[in-house]
Formats: sequence, structure tokens, C-alpha cells
Amino acid sequence: SILEMEVEQINKGKYEHYMQKEIHEQPESLTTTMRGRLMRGGSCKAKTVLLGGLKDHLKTIRRSRRIVFIGCGTSYNAALAARPILEELSGVPVTMEIASDLVDRQGPIYREDTAVFVSQSGETADTLLALAYALENGALCVGITNTVGSAIARRTHCGVHINAGCEIGVASTKAYTSQIVVMAMLALAIGDDTMSSQLRREAIVDGLFDLPNKVREALKLDQEMEDLAKLLIAEQSLLVFGRGYNYATALEGALKVKEVALMHSEGILAGEMKHGPLALVDENLPIIVIATHDACFSKQQSVIQQLHARKGRLIVICSKGDAALVCPSGSCRVIEVPQVEDCLQPVVNIIPLQLLAYHLTVLRGYNVDQPRNLAKSVTTE
Ligand code: G6P
Repeated sequence: SILEMEVEQINKGKYEHYMQKEIHEQPESLTTTMRGRLMRGGSCKAKTVLLGGLKDHLKTIRRSRRIVFIGCGTSYNAALAARPILEELSGVPVTMEIASDLVDRQGPIYREDTAVFVSQSGETADTLLALAYALENGALCVGITNTVGSAIARRTHCGVHINAGCEIGVASTKAYTSQIVVMAMLALAIGDDTMSSQLRREAIVDGLFDLPNKVREALKLDQEMEDLAKLLIAEQSLLVFGRGYNYATALEGALKVKEVALMHSEGILAGEMKHGPLALVDENLPIIVIATHDACFSKQQSVIQQLHARKGRLIVICSKGDAALVCPSGSCRVIEVPQVEDCLQPVVNIIPLQLLAYHLTVLRGYNVDQPRNLAKSVTTE
């Protein structure tokens, strides 16, 4: 109806699509996610994290034998992005489960496990089935959802709300970045009583405070990503290589492109390049390589060299000022992003890929907010 159309226009404000609005509102949604939870300055506890919904369970989580992340789609990718920092700060082994696969295998879940359920909607059927299964097996179940009162929020023992605000576009964008931030805060909260990692924790807290600004800066790549989308508009396929903290960025970037732009896209763990993907490389297939500055940087440089030697069509995402380091030949397209603390870099690095997926979709003439065959919340198995 006309009324519905007008309401929609008001909701979208100056934007043409919800996905576009949600991408651009990430500096604000991230701020909301962190509000009241991060402490800096003050008296004794200089820099710390407060997650109200978890405080009575932190001891149990610290003592658990394993933390297992469970989710589907983008929520799974967000957990994957946070896995390294959780492992580092908690000292507890962290494993990953796609919800349906855990249920299919009836995989091992024990009383001594902490099972963390990550879901934007809090209503995904596969994730709910995995939750029922973990509850039966006696694990401590933690929910990380964006929907207060959702099934996952109600049925878990404790949890954290993402507070990213209502997300309407079927492809998750702002919920993804807020989920990563929530899990980074979770890592800080679990690791809170160890002295050895204090400097690291303080650097992460500082990084979190500054993250909305860095995301705002990355959003200025909008035009550059639209130009890139114009070049890629007619491609059949797109590969995205990442590793370490940004393995998840590769998977999530590729997922965005495939779900909205309806273009085949695959996220690849760069360490696996020689074990198959290298066979695909030629002068036609576009390849995005994520090579921001972290402990894996020199390995990514050598991946770029090898792809280059096989005449790969390279698009490299790197830290500001690193263009000459990642592409000495000058023959790749380079996208520079602001550098942040390594474990938070996935939040910044996904921004150009979200923008690329958005523009590719609009240019290809597809429905960006409601891709064919997909639903925002998948409530059936
Ligand atoms: C659907 C949506 C995805 C989402 C996934 C998990 O497939 O289209 O965008 O990532 O479900 O949803 P959840 O609400 O559990 O995060």
C-alpha cells in the first residue's frame, strides 16, 4: 500500500536500500553495542569490560574445558573472526560448529563445555536445535543475539545482547560487525584476571573505543568500491583469500557477494592455496587478497607473489601506506584501509567487501534487500 511505501521511505531515510543504510550506520551501531560496557580511566580498574548478562557465569566459563561457538551463515563467520582473540585471552581451547553440522553428527558436547550460540535473529531453527542438543548434554549455554526476548535469548543460561539495532536487509552487515565486537569484549571479560596480557587487553580496549571512527574512515571507500563493482559487473566468479584474523573476512566477503549479487564467490584460507585453489588462477578470474598488516603479513605477501606469477587478476586490501609493499609491480588494484589492533581488523576489513557486494547487486539489477530464495530468519530446518 501507499502507506507502507511511505513508512519504508521514512525508515530508509536518505538511503535507497536497507542494506546500504545498515552498512553506513555501522559507526553508530558499534557505538551502541559498546555503550556502558567498556570502562577506561577512573580509579583502580583502569581499563575493563562489563557484560552484565555474564558476570555470574564468568568463573564457570574460565574453568570450562572448551568454548564451542555455534551458529549459521554470517553469525558463524563472526564467531570465526573472534576465535583467535578468544583463544589468546581465555587460554581455553575454542572450537567452531556450524549448527546443522553439529546436530547431523550429534557431535560431542560435554558438561564441562561452554557453548556459545551466535544469532542475529535468535530464532534460526538450526541454531535452536543445536541449543536444545547442548542443553541436553549439560553444557553451559551462552546466547549472543540481536533480538531481546528471542528464543535463543530465552533458552540459554546467560548471554549478551548485540544491541546493533533492528536489521532489515536479509544480508547481515551491521549485526556482523557488532557480533565481532561483542565476542572481543567477551574475550576481554574472560581474560580479565590475568596479569600477563594486561598491555594487550588495554590496547584492545583503546582499539574498541576508536573503532567507530576507523569504520567511518573505511566507509569513505564507497566510491572506490562502486568503481570496482563496475569492473566486476559481468564476472562469473570471484575468489577472496584471507588468513589468520581475516580468514573469516574472506568467508564473509564471499558470502555477501554470493547472497546479494548472485555471483559465485568463494572465501579461501590462503594457507590452503597450494592445495587446490591455485589451479583456478588465470588472467581472467578476479581475486581479492586481504593483506592488512599483522603477524601473517609476510605470508600474505608471498601468496600475492605466487598469484602474480600465475598472472592472477589481483585486488589487494591492505593497511594504509602498504600499497608498495603488497604490490611492488604496481599491477594490482589496491584498496587501503585504516589499521587497527590486529584482532579488530576484521571489523574494518569487511566494510569494503560489504560495499562491493552492495554496489555489484545494484549494478546487476538484483533485489539487494531481499535476494531471491533467501529469508532473513530461517525458522525451518
Ligand atoms: C539466514 C540469513 C543470514 C544469516 C543466517 C543466520 O541465512 O539470510 O543473513 O546470517 O540466517 O541467521 P541468524 O539470525 O541466526 O544470525
